[in-house]
Amino acid sequence: MKVDVLLGLQWGDEGKGKVVDVLTPRYDVVARFQGGPNAGHTLEFEGQKYVLRSIPSGIFQGNKINIIGNGVVLAPDLFMDEAKDLEKSGHNLKDRLCISKKAHLIMPTHRLLDAAYEQAKGKDKVGTTGKGIGPTYTDKVSRNGLRVGDILDRFEEKYAAHKARHEQMLRALNYTDYDITEVEAKWMEGIEYLKQFQLVDSEHLINKILKEGKSVLCEGAQGTMLDVDFGSYPFVTSSNTICAGACVGLGIGPNKIGEVFGIIKAYCTRVGAGPFPTELFDETGNKIRQIGHEYGAVTGRERRCGWIDLVALRYAIMVSGVTKLIMMKSDVLDSFATIKACTAYKLQDGTVTRDFPFDISEGITPVYEELPGWNCDLTAVTSEEQFPQQLNDYIEFLERELETPIAIISVGPDREQTICR
Ligand code: GDP
Ligand code: IMO
Ligand code: MG
Repeated sequence: MKVDVLLGLQWGDEGKGKVVDVLTPRYDVVARFQGGPNAGHTLEFEGQKYVLRSIPSGIFQGNKINIIGNGVVLAPDLFMDEAKDLEKSGHNLKDRLCISKKAHLIMPTHRLLDAAYEQAKGKDKVGTTGKGIGPTYTDKVSRNGLRVGDILDRFEEKYAAHKARHEQMLRALNYTDYDITEVEAKWMEGIEYLKQFQLVDSEHLINKILKEGKSVLCEGAQGTMLDVDFGSYPFVTSSNTICAGACVGLGIGPNKIGEVFGIIKAYCTRVGAGPFPTELFDETGNKIRQIGHEYGAVTGRERRCGWIDLVALRYAIMVSGVTKLIMMKSDVLDSFATIKACTAYKLQDGTVTRDFPFDISEGITPVYEELPGWNCDLTAVTSEEQFPQQLNDYIEFLERELETPIAIISVGPDREQTICR
């Protein structure tokens, strides 16, 4: 059996959570492979809204197995809050959620280090989510990390050594005005809570599942433009958000990858600092933000809004081998007389390129193609036959420019507002 992978292709918040929830009935297993509580994946169904951070978005559909893979970084206290909330609303997790023993733990001091590094960067700060993501992955790569499997043996001792090292780093950064007594107590409670779950060798589990002929959907977090290798570095997250990240973050061979679903918004947003060539600073940008409710699910920050960027998307499709696109939030453009799409970048020296350049931080002028809007309400549309001609034209234009079919169109936040073509 093959593993399908679902990825954000922009700067995150494309609507991955919604799509995973919609697609889950087709799979036996849903697995997260990177990122951590920096993610905020929103799902809506039966009048309820849920935001998931570390728990895979397949948790609401039947008795599917959900896996938190080795590539994920996990904050026990935040995980406990998230899991308890779900249990309170009647969703039993303990027999369906497996957590990799190789996933790294986000310690309270990692969050302090996140803040300290941001403070040290001053005006060049990344605008992180403050969840300790960068410092935790740094510890992992520098061979200093603490893993979920470590909680099963001599944990206090290991924790104390890691904490002492972090405290030394914080002193060197002149970041000493903090008190984590309460946070630490809750974090330790989270560690105990974690022990009630199935802590597994998820690479063995997932490959066994595949051998049994079962199917797996991998749920990406963040998006390609936030990938640590291919994103708008250094304004990125600290993990590989592209398709290859699923192989590394779960222990799956590349030959097992089947479909690669690329999730895009009908326009584009970004939260945090860093370049964004098609960003709109005018009324149009505000209008997209208002209609699209573009405020971060994790931090509540205003999302920056702009037109769709096909140069960046071609690049994202290329580095992940995307086979199918899924377009979200089409309804947000319902009332726009014209819709713009950036098809190329004009560089400082006047050359025009369709290829994503090394540096997009300065001197990029987007070259736009303008298309007529559809000026009607898409939110109640239930089949492709009801699409207005202008929407069909926009879809066809994107498919031509991106050389990839668009398989699903989303016309609202609810599970039901999804049209498979
Ligand atoms: P994720 O991080 O990729 O899962 O996306 P987020 O949940 O952070 O942000 C997507 C937001 O858009 C959420 O509030 C969703 O409920 C909402 N959403 C998803 N699809 C649609 C859609 O087709 N139309 C509208 N209007 N909202 C959508
Ligand atoms: P989902 O999965 C949007 C951004 C942050 C910041 C940068 C680095 O919901 O799409 P980090 O805390 O990861 O070190 O922050 O990445 N960022 C996201 N932006 N959606 C996300 O996740 C994000 N996760 C991180 O805003 O610019
Ligand atoms: Mg999000």
